[in-house]
Amino acid sequence: MHIDCERIMLTEEQIKERVVEVAKQVDKDFHGKEPLVVGILKGSIIFYGDFIRCLHIPITLDFMVVSSYGAGTVSSGNLKIKKDVESDVKGKDVIIIEDIIDSGFTLANLKQLFVERGAKTVTIITLLDKYERRTADVKPDYNCFKIEDEFVIGYGLDYNERYRMLPYIGILKRSVYE
Ligand code: IMP
Ligand code: MG
Repeated sequence: MHIDCERIMLTEEQIKERVVEVAKQVDKDFHGKEPLVVGILKGSIIFYGDFIRCLHIPITLDFMVVSSYGAGTVSSGNLKIKKDVESDVKGKDVIIIEDIIDSGFTLANLKQLFVERGAKTVTIITLLDKYERRTADVKPDYNCFKIEDEFVIGYGLDYNERYRMLPYIGILKRSVYE
C-alpha cells in the first residue's frame, strides 16, 4: 500500500468484479442502441478504459475535461469546461462516465448541458457515489460503489494530480492535506 494511504477501501479485485457486473447491465439496457460514451477526464480514465472493454454493444467515444475543484479537497462550485466533446450530441444516447459524485454539482451541470444540446437520453455512470455529500439534484443511473465521506485516491482519482495510477481505491491520510 502507498505510504500516503490510510487504508485500502476497494481492492483491485473488488473493483474489477463490480465493473464487469455494471457493464453487463448496461449491455442489456442499451441493447440495439449505439450510445456515445463521454469520459470526464482525467479522473475517469482508468474506470472508462476498464468499463468499455467489458461492453459488447457498439459505442463511440468522446471526452471532456471539466474542473470544479482547483487544488483542494472541497468542490469550489464553479464548473469550467476546459475541453469540450468533439461530437454533435443531438439525437444521441449519451452516457457520461465519471469517477465520483460528491456534491453532484459537476454531473448536474453536465447533464443539463447535454439535454440543452439535444441529446435523446443522458445516462450517468459513476464508479463511486459519496451520497452523504449530495447537494445538487442529481442521481447516477448506474453506480458501482456507494462510499462514506472520505477523500479517496487511486484508480484514476487524484489529490493534486498525484496517486491516479494506484490500482486500488485508498483513503488519503489526513496529514497529507491538513
Ligand atoms: P462534485 O461536483 O462535487 O460532485 O465533484 C465531483 C468531482 O470532484 C469528481 O469528478 C472528482 O474529480 C472530485 N472529487 C470528489 N471527491 C473526491 C475524492 O474523494 N477524491 C478525488 N477526487 C474527488
Ligand atoms: Mg473528476
